[in-house]
Amino acid sequence: MSERKFNVAVAGATGAVGNQMIKCLEERNFPVKSIKLLASARSIGRKLTFRGESIPVEELKEDSFKGVEIALFSAGAGTSLKFAPMAYKDGCAVIDNSSGWRMDPEVPLVVPEVNPHAIAQYTKKGIIANPNCSTIQMVVPLVHIHKKYKIKRIVVSTYQSVSGTGKKAIDELFDQTRALINFLPVERKVYPHRIAFNCLPQIDVFLENDYTKEEMKMVNETRKILEDNSIGVTATTVRVPVFFGHSESINVETYEPIKASDVKDLLRNAPGIKLVDEPKKGLYPLAIDAAGQDLTLVGRIRQDESVPNGINMWIAADNIRKGAATNAVQIAEILGSKYL
Ligand code: A2P
Repeated sequence: MSERKFNVAVAGATGAVGNQMIKCLEERNFPVKSIKLLASARSIGRKLTFRGESIPVEELKEDSFKGVEIALFSAGAGTSLKFAPMAYKDGCAVIDNSSGWRMDPEVPLVVPEVNPHAIAQYTKKGIIANPNCSTIQMVVPLVHIHKKYKIKRIVVSTYQSVSGTGKKAIDELFDQTRALINFLPVERKVYPHRIAFNCLPQIDVFLENDYTKEEMKMVNETRKILEDNSIGVTATTVRVPVFFGHSESINVETYEPIKASDVKDLLRNAPGIKLVDEPKKGLYPLAIDAAGQDLTLVGRIRQDESVPNGINMWIAADNIRKGAATNAVQIAEILGSKYL
C-alpha cells in the first residue's frame, strides 16, 4: 500500500459486522488518517475503541460524510439505499455490506480473490457492494473451477450461523440454549421458530417462487461475480444453532471433464483458501476452525459419481470476517491503493 492515509467512516459501527470492520481495519493496518464511527441515534453516548483510542459513536446523518474518503456500511439495506448516494455526493466512496445495491448493474459486486478488476466500475455510483456472506465463501473456490472446467450447474445447501443475523440473534441462541438446559421456558424474538437444538430451512423472507431471498441472493450474486449468467445455481439456505462460521455443501457440474484429485491440486495454493482434506484422519472444514480467521476452508472434495463431470465439496468460513468485514476491508485496500 502507498503511504497515503484515508479519512474513514464505519456506518453501523455498533453492529456485529461493523464492530468486526473496525477490528479488521486495525488488524490489517489499513492506512487510517481519521475514523468516524456511525450508528443510529440509539447509540449516542456509546464509545468504541480503535487502536487503543476511545471514540464516541455519532448518529448517522446526511452530512456525516463530509471530509470522509472511504465509508464502510453495514447498517441494513434501507440505511445504505438512503445514505450511500449522499456519501458519494460529498466525495466519499462507499463499500456496502447490505443487499441494497448488490444487483444494481452500475454497482460492482466484488470478492477480491475473484473479480478485483470490477472495482474500477465504482465511479458510476460511488458504491462497491460486498456480496452476501454465503456467496462470498462459495465463489472463492468456485472461480478456479469455473476458469478451468466451466461450471454448468451448482447445487448448494448452507448451514449458516446465527451471527449472520446480527447481535440479537447471537443473544437469542445463547438465551434459548441456557433456558433449555435449565428446563426453563424458551423465548423467541428474532427467528420464526426456536433456533437452539434446531435447524431452520428459512433465511430471510419467502419469495413468489417459494425460494427465500437468501437463496435467490446466492443464485443472482454468484452469476454476477463470476460474470456468467449461463451458470445454473440452486440453493437451500438453512440456519443452524452455531454462533460463528457458515458451512456449505456444494455440488458442481462442469462442461469439461473434472477429477477430484486435480481439484485438490488446483485449490491447494489458491488465494484465500486453506485445503483441509484428509477425511480419514478426521480432517475436514469445521465452522469452529473457520471462526476467527480469514481463509475459506475447503475439503471433502470427491467425485460426484452420479454425473459424467461433477464434484462435491464441503466448505466453511467465518461469515462475519471473510463473509463480510474482511472482504469489505480487502476491497478498501484495493480501492485506496489503486483507484483513489
Ligand atoms: P444501533 O446499534 O444504533 O442500532 P446488527 O446487524 O448487528 O444488528 O447491527 C446493525 C447496525 O446498524 C448497528 O450498528 C445499528 O446501530 C445500525 N443501524 C441500524 N439502523 C440504523 C439507522 N437507521 N441509522 C443508522 N444506523 C443504523
